[in-house]
Amino acid sequence: MTTLAILTAAGSGTRLGRDLPKALVELGGLPLVLHAARRLAASGVVDGLVVTAPAGLAAVVTEVVARDPHIEVPVRVVEGGATRQASVATGLRMARAADDVVLVHDAARPLVPPSLVRRVVEAVRSGHRAVVPGLPVTDTIKQVIPGPGAELVVGTPDRSLLRAVQTPQGFERGLLVRAHEAGAVRAAAEHLAATDDAGLVEALGEKVHIVPGDDLAFKITTERDLWLAELVLQEAA
Ligand code: CTP
Ligand code: MG
Repeated sequence: MTTLAILTAAGSGTRLGRDLPKALVELGGLPLVLHAARRLAASGVVDGLVVTAPAGLAAVVTEVVARDPHIEVPVRVVEGGATRQASVATGLRMARAADDVVLVHDAARPLVPPSLVRRVVEAVRSGHRAVVPGLPVTDTIKQVIPGPGAELVVGTPDRSLLRAVQTPQGFERGLLVRAHEAGAVRAAAEHLAATDDAGLVEALGEKVHIVPGDDLAFKITTERDLWLAELVLQEAA
């Protein structure tokens, strides 16, 4: 039985605001997607990678990831879809019968430690069918509704019960396939795509478990995040 990792890299990176897709933006001289792919492969628990590339850039992503000498697992590249959810669904169609566990990881989290990848896969293999890394939140979170002029606070959830979730998220393949099938029907009806895969599993009424996340798996969304990642890399060198 094998573990397939779907690496989502098809986004445009609007909030980063560069003139190339975020996954191809460089960190320490290498594209973000390559950092993420190397760390997934280095975990030793991933048997194959499927990378979702931005439209028209499958050949470029193949050049970057599939030819990298540090990555010793098979890499396939497919064009992603219009939303993250659609991209994951496309990657999931590339899974093989032997892939009983599927990880979904964002290229936007390039510094994910291989130990976190192992923690997620071990939790799935120990019997949890859907596993998400999560960290305690440090800010107090308010729930709001739109109001005239300013938003109106309608609640303050108990912070100790909140988790900020990361990727890789790990799943028994059959469960993730079912979750995406149901999610695609909802997305078509409601024009609303999920921002994480565990949410689709929850919508099926199935259990999702949390394992401890890792600060280094932080997501690069803005220039400030990229700057922070550069500092982390320099510190590690
Ligand atoms: N992603 C994808 N396909 C899409 C949209 C996003 O594969 N249609 C991927 C991104 O490449 C990224 C991950 O999903 O690795 C998380 O998305 P996000 O951080 O939002 O990245 P972008 O969508 O590229 O950025 P933005 O929302 O600022 O445009
Ligand atoms: Mg996005």
